[in-house]
Amino acid sequence: MPSSSELLAADCVSRTYPIPGRRRERRLVHAVRDVDLAIARGSAVGLVGESGSGKTTLARMLIGLETPTAGRVLLRGEPVGRGWVRASEVQMVFQDPYTSLDPRQSAVETLDEVQRVRFDRTAAERGRRTAELLEAVGLGRQEAEALPGALSGGQRQRAAIARALAVEPELLILDEAVSALDVSVQGQIVNLLNDLRSELSLTYLLISHDLAVVRQMVDTVVVMYRGRVVEQGPIDAVLDRPQHPYTRRLRAAVPEAGKALGGRMAPAEPRNEGCVFHHRCELAGADCDREPALAPVGPNHLARCWRTGERTAPAEHQPTRSHTT
Ligand SMILES: Nc1ncnc2c1ncn2[C@@H]1O[C@H](COP(=O)(O)OP(=O)(O)OP(=O)(O)O)[C@@H](O)[C@H]1O
Ligand SMILES: [Mg+2]
Repeated sequence: MPSSSELLAADCVSRTYPIPGRRRERRLVHAVRDVDLAIARGSAVGLVGESGSGKTTLARMLIGLETPTAGRVLLRGEPVGRGWVRASEVQMVFQDPYTSLDPRQSAVETLDEVQRVRFDRTAAERGRRTAELLEAVGLGRQEAEALPGALSGGQRQRAAIARALAVEPELLILDEAVSALDVSVQGQIVNLLNDLRSELSLTYLLISHDLAVVRQMVDTVVVMYRGRVVEQGPIDAVLDRPQHPYTRRLRAAVPEAGKALGGRMAPAEPRNEGCVFHHRCELAGADCDREPALAPVGPNHLARCWRTGERTAPAEHQPTRSHTT
């Protein structure tokens, strides 16, 4: 049960979607299934897993953009409903910065407006803060005065991050917002976010394919596979001593910063199909047709595997069937 130091928590949340084209058979995919997640105030939590593992769906449920088909979302221990999100509390920067920027406003105008609406600041103070934010995200004056349509993807992403930071939210959710940037800008933004975390006691949920970025920013990491949490714990323990074969695979497969770890995996369909990873697992045996519990494997470290003690040599990168959109 979540405690009061938790800013935001998911309590056994699930989200199902009907499979396209099979309406009559009423089959469902589980985008997220029975996930518990707790984000303590001031912490930085990473959410990792391949494309299609349910990370965005979980984040969208946390901020009320999506309604869980089961389970609850709690803000400071109190259940919240659809559309609960308050901008002053949570900002989310999405994979696609087009969705968080007004196409008719330059970054300068957006940053000024955000401050005008939220804070009691003079024009001069707003101007100073705008300049600070632009510098912090590495956006030049010329780009900052252009409309989003005239910017590159990386520049738009930086404008979106600046916009989210201008609000000074308590929780910032970054959904692949950093990994698409080139490495030098990425480093700059990671440093900025780390500084802001201590200055403003910001709380982060960082969703990323890129374990290197995740390691630089988070204390705790949650590994998802096909809608399930398969491992979670302190970042160093999970990445240095991964106990789930999927986490080991993820770690071994990290090809380059910013690259996905293979295509979209098949979504989880029926319940009780056993361990969600057994189709791809080199350690799978007969007992894996039952799903193990998320069990302690170290201090604050949990893994969902019958064979947490067993190891094989790190697997080669084995791309999954790719049908990425
Ligand atoms: N609106 C929707 N309708 C139907 N299926 C959906 C919908 N949103 C997500 N899904 C399915 O739910 C699963 C999880 O998707 P989700 O986008 O949450 O994954 P993700 O981990 O964020 O992936 P990525 O790394 O590619 O962003 C996928 O199988 C996806 O196809
Ligand atoms: Mg996503």
